[in-house]
Amino acid sequence: MLRMPRNDGWDDPMLTSLSHVSIAVPDLDAAARRLRETYGLAVGEPRMNLEQGVRLAYVDLGNAKIELMEPSRPDSPIAKFLERNPKGGIHHFSLGTDDMASTAATLGRQGVRILGDGRLQYNVAGERIAFIHPADFLGALVELEEHRP
Ligand code: CO
Repeated sequence: MLRMPRNDGWDDPMLTSLSHVSIAVPDLDAAARRLRETYGLAVGEPRMNLEQGVRLAYVDLGNAKIELMEPSRPDSPIAKFLERNPKGGIHHFSLGTDDMASTAATLGRQGVRILGDGRLQYNVAGERIAFIHPADFLGALVELEEHRP
């Protein structure tokens, strides 16, 4: 478990789980078929996140998920990623946090930049999400996902 400093001391875990690894794909249905047929993985029904501009499906592995993302519009951030990586590839990974507001505030005090214009963002499950600037996490794009205890 990852432990980080926060207002009320060091012992309270702030980032509590690996929620998912996200793969950008040019064709969600083909990607789901590939994971089913070759790896025997159960891929859930595709869902749309209009706000993020992506169509998504998940493989639930029990302790973490694989997220498949296909752009749902030409100006989707995922469309830009696929221009650079036409066959797709790992786009981000997501860490669970029990309290987004407190986690974001604590990280902000340590100089960590949260991407976006400050508006609240949500995933298809209605959970709050936020993305950390890759330069502030060892070059990796990291999503935070709020899992209320
Ligand atoms: Co994600």
